[in-house]
Amino acid sequence: MAASRNTGQGSSPWWRDAVVYQIYPRSFLDTTGDGVGDLPGIAARLDYLRWLGVDAIWASPFFRSPMADFGYDVSDYCDVDPVFGTLGDADRLVAGAHAAGIRLLLDWVPNHTSDRHPWFVESRSSRRSPKRDWYYWRDGRDGETPNNWRAAFGGPAWTFDELTRQWYLHLFLPEQPDLNWGNPAVVEAMHRVLRFWLDRDVDGFRIDVAHLIGKDPALPDQPGELGPIDRVGIHDDPRTHPLLRGIRRVVDSYPGDRVIVGEVNLHDTSAIRAYYGAGDELHMAFNFLPLSTPWSAGAWRGLIEVVERDLGREAWPTWVLSNHDTSRHRTRLGGAEAVSRAAAVLLLTLRGTPFLFQGEELGLEDAVVPAERRVDPGGRDGVRAPIPWTGGSAHGWATADPWLPWPPDADVRNAEHERRQPRSILHLYRRLLAARRASPALREGEVTLLDAPDDVLAYRRSTAGDERIVLVNFGQARVEVPLEGRWQLDVASDPAVDRWDGGVPPSGAVVLERFVRREGAAGSVPAGGGTTGPTTPSRSR
Ligand code: GLC
Repeated sequence: MAASRNTGQGSSPWWRDAVVYQIYPRSFLDTTGDGVGDLPGIAARLDYLRWLGVDAIWASPFFRSPMADFGYDVSDYCDVDPVFGTLGDADRLVAGAHAAGIRLLLDWVPNHTSDRHPWFVESRSSRRSPKRDWYYWRDGRDGETPNNWRAAFGGPAWTFDELTRQWYLHLFLPEQPDLNWGNPAVVEAMHRVLRFWLDRDVDGFRIDVAHLIGKDPALPDQPGELGPIDRVGIHDDPRTHPLLRGIRRVVDSYPGDRVIVGEVNLHDTSAIRAYYGAGDELHMAFNFLPLSTPWSAGAWRGLIEVVERDLGREAWPTWVLSNHDTSRHRTRLGGAEAVSRAAAVLLLTLRGTPFLFQGEELGLEDAVVPAERRVDPGGRDGVRAPIPWTGGSAHGWATADPWLPWPPDADVRNAEHERRQPRSILHLYRRLLAARRASPALREGEVTLLDAPDDVLAYRRSTAGDERIVLVNFGQARVEVPLEGRWQLDVASDPAVDRWDGGVPPSGAVVLERFVRREGAAGSVPAGGGTTGPTTPSRSR
């Protein structure tokens, strides 16, 4: 491993200090002219990611796939789909990332394969196939589905197969049959997949819908009131935990703090907590509550309290505002750049590991995708729009005609243009990443919510010898925030703010550090009246 890679500051593992950047390879950068991004495209932008300051990349699936779910339907876990490149390109990407001091996490899809995967083709061929039990085949009930489960993209979670006159289970598309992890041969085959990539020196995995893999073989009906709800959001079976421990043992058998972060699509943080096990299951689980939390001080305060309470001291939190499955937060929160900037301050100063989604650092909005260009069965095309790297019609891609339309205002909201503008949102992200790196309190410190005026979310991050205060103003008017002690500006979301003057602009956010007298330094003027009206901790840990 390259010496320049962040090995974790102090005693904590690197991933607790890290900022992870999600790449959706189809939409990152196309180098071949087929309109679809590829692995050489990612390799070509490692310099940019290094400049931005991210510690790790999570790449959405680039394995062989018929693309019914754009790569989340895998037909060969141990090869690269030709649309993205070759295994050699994957090896070069790992090596290039490591040389740039960046770790690489792959997106491993254990719950289901493609219906074209040789395992399923064989399983489907006969009731007596040795791979029959690798998937869930069941008889129907009076000509109807074996149980009442619903699939994530609509319809029943079962498809009837004429050849063998049985139904197979798929919690997503019919093209994504669920693997039977109750069969030890499946466990062994999937562990081999992990080893294949760990041997190629990847730093770990984002595990797709990790909470779904354990199932009661009786596959009981959902109780009446839950009947119509799709299974993915409620499936929570104790059989998943020993399976995650097995996966963790494989990953832990490799040197270098490899990591697994799991998608646990449950909406209750205390349920998500269980997937960390006793420190022997997931290292981190995604928490998707921020994706649906309204943009208000009260709602965010409540969310932080819930996360701190439910995850406790041992389960390290994660934070995310955008990903490839949900409308971008800029679009979701109404489109104003000021709000996106304040949200960036929030995301990058909370206690836990933040996950960025490609393009949020450019302040991108979802693309408007006309009906005739829509391709995703889950309606997620807008968020998956290609990244504009430059102005001009092809925006740095090898073709001006990518698989999805460009996001709005790509002439100015592109990496090249924003990099030239020191006041751009891109530079704000870069400053925030640098501020995190420089501050143990922001990386690892406790979070303490502070009393604050209405519309303002205020918290302290602190560790022995280091401290920051973060103020986020969700309202439309400037708010004065009296603070105990003397503070100076570390980072402001609003490019017009260059010092702490005691107030936060509308839809603005600031990160403050203790005042240090520096001769003639701009931006280090203490707040007028900054020693009055103490803001006190409202909850301490
Ligand atoms: C996860 C992925 C999503 C995919 C689904 C099925 O939720 O994030 O994109 O469609 O799993 O694999």
